Amino acid sequence: MTSAFRAALVTGASGPIGSAISRRLASAGMNVALHYRHNASSARALALELGASTTRPGLVVGADVAKPEQVEHMVDEVAAAFGDIDVLVCAAGVHKDALTVTSPVEDLDHLVDINLKGSYLCARAVLRRMVRRGSGRIVLVSSVAGLRGFSGQGAYSAAKAGLTGLTRTLAREYGGRGITVNCVAPGLIRDTPAERALSEKQRGRLLAHVPAGRAGTAAEVAGLVGFLCGPEADYVNGQVIAVDGGQTA
Ligand SMILES: NC(=O)c1ccc[n+]([C@@H]2O[C@H](COP(=O)([O-])OP(=O)(O)OC[C@H]3O[C@@H](n4cnc5c(N)ncnc54)[C@H](OP(=O)(O)O)[C@@H]3O)[C@@H](O)[C@H]2O)c1
Repeated sequence: MTSAFRAALVTGASGPIGSAISRRLASAGMNVALHYRHNASSARALALELGASTTRPGLVVGADVAKPEQVEHMVDEVAAAFGDIDVLVCAAGVHKDALTVTSPVEDLDHLVDINLKGSYLCARAVLRRMVRRGSGRIVLVSSVAGLRGFSGQGAYSAAKAGLTGLTRTLAREYGGRGITVNCVAPGLIRDTPAERALSEKQRGRLLAHVPAGRAGTAAEVAGLVGFLCGPEADYVNGQVIAVDGGQTA
């Protein structure tokens, strides 16, 4: 379905989940700004792909989402190019496993900086514009690790759980201004760095707890995000929805 919203910023669009979300939003007729941190070539390749397959070629923007001034600059650049930003999807994130007592404190800082502070800064930067206009959609990408405990994921889990609190708070703060803020929590997603990092044994152990018996796809995450950014989700606000094959049921 074609969306009433026209301009989207997707952070982490250089990764597999952000790419799939960008494709989905572009197919709904949106101009999509494709954010990357280091992997500019992947974001540029996606922009070319969108240019060839849709009427709306992507705009490529680089930033460290943990740096407020870079985030502000990125949001200004996207708004200048597209006229405004109607939709923000925060898919930029980092992942690192270690048991809590052996994990360096610096890892906690890094995981919180990118996964939580990065989403907070991006939401804050676009919200000012959305409030002025009286409409907008924000979707934060958390993880099943933000909903349940997983051994070895203390710092990641803390950061991703923070996104669920941020989602609910922003929904209350801005739900009366025509803005919805929701959160998607993927389980294990196929063909991603997180999946590739697992041994066959780890993968099997994890999937034993997934009723669907398989990892999800980035397109399945993107389908939910596309719905939340579309007109049929006007009355869905402050929700945290897992895309996990039933893992957290
Ligand atoms: N894969 C899974 O199974 C899974 C499950 C649950 C949740 N998630 C979440 O889904 C999201 C996307 O996952 P993915 O598998 O597509 O991950 P990915 O391939 O590792 O992509 C991560 C993205 O985050 C960006 N990024 C990393 N550090 C950054 C920084 N300092 N500033 C700005 N951007 C930064 C990367 O940019 P560059 O590559 O350009 O540096 C990349 O676009 C993440 O938030 C992840 O935690 C993934």
